[in-house]
Amino acid sequence: MKVLLTGGLGFIGSHIVRKFIASDWCTHLINLDNMSYGSNTNNVKDVETNKKYTFVYGDIRDYELLTKLVKDVDIVINAAAETHVDRSIANPGPFVETNVVGTFNLLEACRRNDVKLFMQISTDEVYGDAVCGESFNEEDTFKPSNPYSATKAAADCLVMAYNRTYGLNTIITRSTNNFGPYQHPEKFIPKTIIRAALGLSVPVYGTGKQIRDWIYVEDHVEAVELVLLKAKGGKIYNVSAGNEFSNLDIVKQILSIMGKPTSLIEHVEDRPGHDVRYSLDSSLIRRELGWVPRHSLFEALKKTVEWYMKNEWWWRPLADERALHPTPWRLEW
Ligand SMILES: NC(=O)c1ccc[n+]([C@@H]2O[C@H](COP(=O)([O-])OP(=O)(O)OC[C@H]3O[C@@H](n4cnc5c(N)ncnc54)[C@H](O)[C@@H]3O)[C@@H](O)[C@H]2O)c1
Repeated sequence: MKVLLTGGLGFIGSHIVRKFIASDWCTHLINLDNMSYGSNTNNVKDVETNKKYTFVYGDIRDYELLTKLVKDVDIVINAAAETHVDRSIANPGPFVETNVVGTFNLLEACRRNDVKLFMQISTDEVYGDAVCGESFNEEDTFKPSNPYSATKAAADCLVMAYNRTYGLNTIITRSTNNFGPYQHPEKFIPKTIIRAALGLSVPVYGTGKQIRDWIYVEDHVEAVELVLLKAKGGKIYNVSAGNEFSNLDIVKQILSIMGKPTSLIEHVEDRPGHDVRYSLDSSLIRRELGWVPRHSLFEALKKTVEWYMKNEWWWRPLADERALHPTPWRLEW
């Protein structure tokens, strides 16, 4: 099967590229990416010359380009997005353009060119925060808290509508917070590792008691592949490894793995609209498709710390003052 993947130079996209190229079922993968700041050609350096791989520099806001590309593929997977919550607070416009209009363009191109399957890589953030001890399932209503999650929720609505109205064969996965190799230094776990490695203070928003549900990126990508190959059209699957920890706990675990003191922790001004707790019920994918995450949180954190320590060549050019800023939502973008 031929795949068009968008956002394949980003964090999760690059893991999808690697996994799919190595599979038997994927005969060719086209990676469409506009090479915005979150992308990195070094993320796919190891597969660049693979005969099954083609890179196309382009934008999901470019409808003409999309119509050309989808003609030649069976499956379209949309992993391209503006993804940094702090940036969406400072400047939401690009989030609407890429996450909403870009997804709309892809859906239009797919339905007009009879693409067999459209898959949207979505997020648990569409449900908002789970303050009352609940875990959201796929039927729960959207309650996004920030411009990033609002645009992801809008994109999911479009995907669901294209399935219902036009009969486009669609699948949505909504995973919890990912971490692992090749994640941009501006994100919480890499920033913690890198700042600690550099002997800098490690910022924690507010009290640090906000709870996130963490998943190792390889476990997420295994779920994506399974859903793609086994799920029925129109389905939506939550993807969670059930690792609910406070931000402060995660920072302490990382510092302990790195042998660094907790005195590096610096509580900084909280992000506006900060979700208190994320929690996903992913029993559906486990029950219907038999997916189980293979990594424990501690083991995956250890692997991630080791990867960043061994791959300074990768993160050093990206780890500038802005990326490592303690309160990036206060910056002008
Ligand atoms: N990282 C997480 O924890 C997480 C969790 C759940 C869901 N997701 C979703 O997974 C997807 C990938 O996330 P990520 O963390 O890998 O993001 P990322 O920021 O690392 O990568 C996004 C990629 O999309 C590309 N891109 C951005 N705008 C584009 C455009 N207009 N046209 C073409 N390419 C464009 C970027 O250049 C980049 O390579 C996103 O849809 C995100 O919402 C991420």
